[in-house]
Amino acid sequence: MKKMLGLAVAALLLAPVAANAQEAPKGFNACKACHKVEAGKHGVGPSLAGVFGTKAGTNYPEFKYSDAHKASGLTWDEANLSKYLADPKGTIPGNKMVFAGIKNPDDLKAVVAYVKGLKK
Ligand code: HEC
Repeated sequence: MKKMLGLAVAALLLAPVAANAQEAPKGFNACKACHKVEAGKHGVGPSLAGVFGTKAGTNYPEFKYSDAHKASGLTWDEANLSKYLADPKGTIPGNKMVFAGIKNPDDLKAVVAYVKGLKK
């Protein structure tokens, strides 16, 4: 019984780590230079943990999002995220994410699904 309890506790402790341990699709390699998937860890871009479902520029108040980004009013659902990641400049003119966009539709789908699964 004691042993089982220990295992249950170990499983609980490991769970938050496992949540973001899903393998990143190859399309995400292009993002890694600027984004981390660990909660609260920022690089050139904000951490992507927990971003799905939030309003642009609100996920991490301590990160300096551009005014254009915050003013976009976009909520990161699948449709908006797909649009933005395919064409960041065209979707939010003046935002500071210097990235051309994912052109391959399969890569785009895989990256959106991956970002959706990143929890804080
Ligand atoms: C050259 C650096 C760079 C690259 C490469 C890059 N990003 Fe970004 N990203 C940023 C910056 C900077 C911002 C903040 C934009 C702003 O405030 O105008 C951002 C913003 C975002 C946001 C919105 C965050 C929020 O909280 O509103 C998402 C989602 C995102 N990036 C996903 C990605 C994904 C997925 C990739 C790869 C396909 C990627 N980015 C590639 C720098 C980058």
